[in-house]
Amino acid sequence: MKYLVIGHPIAHSKSPQIHQAFAAQFNLLDFSYERCLAPLDGFAGLVAQFAEAGGAGANITLPFKEEAFRLCTKLTERAAAAGAVNTIKCVDGVLLGDNTDGAGLVADLLRHTGLAGKRVLLLGAGGAACGVLLPLLEQMPQSLTIANRSVARAMSLAEKFSGNIKIIAQAFDALEGEFDVIINATSASLSGEALPLAGSIFAKDCVAYDMMYGKGETPFMEQARLAGASQCIDGLGMLLGQAAEAFYVWTGLRADIVPVLAAMRAAL
Ligand code: ATR
Repeated sequence: MKYLVIGHPIAHSKSPQIHQAFAAQFNLLDFSYERCLAPLDGFAGLVAQFAEAGGAGANITLPFKEEAFRLCTKLTERAAAAGAVNTIKCVDGVLLGDNTDGAGLVADLLRHTGLAGKRVLLLGAGGAACGVLLPLLEQMPQSLTIANRSVARAMSLAEKFSGNIKIIAQAFDALEGEFDVIINATSASLSGEALPLAGSIFAKDCVAYDMMYGKGETPFMEQARLAGASQCIDGLGMLLGQAAEAFYVWTGLRADIVPVLAAMRAAL
């Protein structure tokens, strides 16, 4: 069975290492998973060629997740909600598009805290935030607030996803009260920037989660720790979680992320 991770750039991707470790847990000898650099204008052709040649599935990363969403002939509910596809399964000539990012985040969060009945704050309103909203809401938090530098973007996400749980959209400096779980889905950590957040929004037992990861603390994790958050977690577990969910979509097997996470953490 042949799988790919397709992106541009792609050399940095840790997905082959992760999926090969998962496959080894089940002794899947015919499981192959490779990196594939797609030309910026050649993504659709490459996927078609791969599927035609008997490819079983692919992970899709930057900048192709939205193009993959448009390309797939069938979508799961969570991919439709996310407006982006990170996992394709080739089934009898049909490209099934899925999105496992939100499931990966939720699975990793649940290893650290419950979400039901919690006051959840999501920071950011770009693709990363949009991709995780439906799985987060399915955990039935008491409330969900989206804060973003551009409030209009937060409002449009709130409008799209409000249902049983009403989503509140706000600017960072308008946030009031405390939150039990604060998730950073902005890309601010990439440029080493901290967000303009009041320390008072971190509840005493607050769990702070940065979707980014790296060696040591991200700026958001440091900010959360200084504000008294009880757990500050980076996104390495989410990376493993989304991969484990994709592996399950393809193989029906639930891989154990714990040993792979430990090995990757040690190698950071
Ligand atoms: P991604 O796919 O990573 O979500 P994106 O769609 O470009 O990428 O969204 C980036 C997110 O990070 C947005 O929420 C963006 O805020 P704006 O919508 O106001 O642009 C946020 N972001 C990026 N850099 C930031 C910074 N320095 N401070 C605050 N927010 C930032």
